Amino acid sequence: MSSIAERRSTAAEEPEAADLEAFEGRLVQALNDAGVMLMMSIGHRLGLFDAMADGAPVTSTGLAGRTGLDERYVREWLGAMTAGRIVDVDPEAGSYRLPPAHAALVTRTGEANLAVYAQFIPLLGSVEEDVIECFRHGGGVPYERYHRFHEVMAEDSGQTVLPVLFDAILPLAPELPDRLEQGIRVLDAGCGRGQALLAMAERYPASRFVGYDLAEDAIAWGRTRAEEQGLTNLTFEARDLSDFDATAEPEAFDLVTTFDAVHDQANPLALLRGIRRTLAPGGVYLAQDIHASSHHHLDREHPMGAILYAVSTMHCMTVSLAQGGDGLGTMWGRETARDYFQRAGFTGIEVHQLPHDIQNDYWILRP
Ligand SMILES: C[S@@+](CC[C@H](N)C(=O)[O-])C[C@H]1O[C@@H](n2cnc3c(N)ncnc32)[C@H](O)[C@@H]1O
Repeated sequence: MSSIAERRSTAAEEPEAADLEAFEGRLVQALNDAGVMLMMSIGHRLGLFDAMADGAPVTSTGLAGRTGLDERYVREWLGAMTAGRIVDVDPEAGSYRLPPAHAALVTRTGEANLAVYAQFIPLLGSVEEDVIECFRHGGGVPYERYHRFHEVMAEDSGQTVLPVLFDAILPLAPELPDRLEQGIRVLDAGCGRGQALLAMAERYPASRFVGYDLAEDAIAWGRTRAEEQGLTNLTFEARDLSDFDATAEPEAFDLVTTFDAVHDQANPLALLRGIRRTLAPGGVYLAQDIHASSHHHLDREHPMGAILYAVSTMHCMTVSLAQGGDGLGTMWGRETARDYFQRAGFTGIEVHQLPHDIQNDYWILRP
């Protein structure tokens, strides 16, 4: 059977046929990649990659035995992973293996686990019907509709923030490591499950840490974990920050952080003005937020542009709109971010990128 491009290919239509062929190939690849991502999410959640991390050949029966899963499903998953070039197959032996270079990037024991991010695809797909209704009638999809959001987000920040928090992120404000060592008051706004707070509270026992977030379940998770870790210098509070400009306690904190937590707020400017108000003299606001321009045409070259606009449409923009908010979206971009920071009253504004993280900018903001 010929492809659409071959069927259309005549001398007169040659340039168009070449375009068509390239585009068709791209769409087929995208479909395959979408399949890989769905299967990769399952492989991550069920520990299938981890069970292959040793790089040794294993049959579908062996892998099912190791993971306690149904062999028929495991075999089909191995088919997808083979066709997607994630695992190697030995047809003679009927065995499969995860090459070490792949194990380094899709297992919990590897250098980085990119399979974590695959979970966003089914997570976003789970609200497709709701988002379609929003396209038709406006409005937004509330946070409660995303059943696994906080779990997946905590895994995400567990990778983008935690491994470099002490060596690369906090030193972006050079005084911070020493001040944290000596003892300061720290707020993480929109903390989710509080991964960064848990790590900082453990590392800096002389400092006091507070986490605010709208989501009671995420806060409860952080609280339980803090208790389990025996952390007495960390508290969490379920709090809507939409009116933080009015409710923030003045000069209560020496450091405020937000990790990916401004653009999807209902009222980002109120949050930022509240942060400005709650910073003590000499205080610092450290914000990690998405690296993008504020213009579609400039985001064409963004290495993750399409997926981040999809995340925006299916999550960040819509959860803000669901709260009657601005709906800034994931890709609000540097220009808009800078404008918001200035309008909130920050005058010392630096923006950095870190080599491990193509997705985020790191802002150091001072009043
Ligand atoms: C993208 S998540 C980031 C969570 C966390 N900082 C991390 O990096 O894992 C954004 C967070 O902002 C919180 N949030 C959204 N709207 C909020 C509001 N109006 N008030 C307080 N928190 C809000 C969400 O519940 C969510 O936990």
